[in-house]
Amino acid sequence: MSDVVRIKKVVEEAYDTKTFFFDWNAEARPGQFIMVWIPGVDEIPMSISSITDSTKSITVKAIGDATRAIHELKEGDRISIRGPFGNGFDLDSGKMLIIGGGVGTAAIMPAVAATGADTIIAARSDRDVILEEKARKFASNVWIATDDGSKGFHGNAVQLMREKVAENDYDCILACGPEVMLYFTYKACEELDLDCQLSLERYMKCGAGVCGCCVMDDSRVCRDGPVFNRSQISMLTEFGNSKRDECGRIVKFR
Ligand SMILES: Cc1cc2nc3c(=O)[nH]c(=O)nc-3n(C[C@H](O)[C@H](O)[C@H](O)COP(=O)(O)OP(=O)(O)OC[C@H]3O[C@@H](n4cnc5c(N)ncnc54)[C@H](O)[C@@H]3O)c2cc1C
Ligand code: FES
Repeated sequence: MSDVVRIKKVVEEAYDTKTFFFDWNAEARPGQFIMVWIPGVDEIPMSISSITDSTKSITVKAIGDATRAIHELKEGDRISIRGPFGNGFDLDSGKMLIIGGGVGTAAIMPAVAATGADTIIAARSDRDVILEEKARKFASNVWIATDDGSKGFHGNAVQLMREKVAENDYDCILACGPEVMLYFTYKACEELDLDCQLSLERYMKCGAGVCGCCVMDDSRVCRDGPVFNRSQISMLTEFGNSKRDECGRIVKFR
């Protein structure tokens, strides 16, 4: 069943990314997502980027037809949503370091808000950094990493993570971002013997565990994930290697 909600505020986060706030009474946990229907275009998954009582938001990077159509929406417009879906992060995981890469930063924000845990926001360059101000409201340590060094640490999220892990005694890494970032985060956690919870992306249609189009090995990313811990990830042979397209065909990452 879907709900129709009215957009009450639109915030421009970067040249290609906007946050849409709406009132929605559903109970949602950090790390969960919704399916957003854009009539005549598509229905696509979006992480819930803030959870404040009845007010929720999604933070959308415009990359194709559906996300560009969402970017056209204004205050007062309505959207149709289903969810919330997925398991979400387990926030009872000791001392955490939370990492967001690119628009994946949207998915980690409710966990940052709920815990105030140390946070890394990574992006290609200064102009791609999103949600920094919001993260600073909740977390006393927010570190920025940019690939080109235009802001903060010059390097990628995993390089900065290794520095911070050496300086602090973390129990668990929570992360969402491009799969290549998550893959090397996982490899670093294996090497350092650190627990991790990684939020993965796969092509989704139903969002509710029925259609099977988001499967990775034996897991449905929409229902069994999108957050997987280190031992679960160790069983996912497709992680970092391949994904399925909208027709179910396997597409290799490399
Ligand atoms: C659990 C989850 C949470 C996500 N959260 C966010 C978020 O918070 N903010 C954000 O900007 N993006 C998020 N995404 C990605 C977002 O769903 C895609 O960028 C979007 O679907 C692209 O649609 P499009 O028509 O604009 O682009 P297209 O040109 O159609 O597609 C561009 C890329 O997006 C992927 N994509 C397209 N449709 C889907 C789909 N139905 N399911 C999964 N991937 C798809 C394609 O495989 C392709 O790689 C999330 C994806 C998942 C699976
Ligand atoms: S999207 Fe249908 S089972 Fe996951």
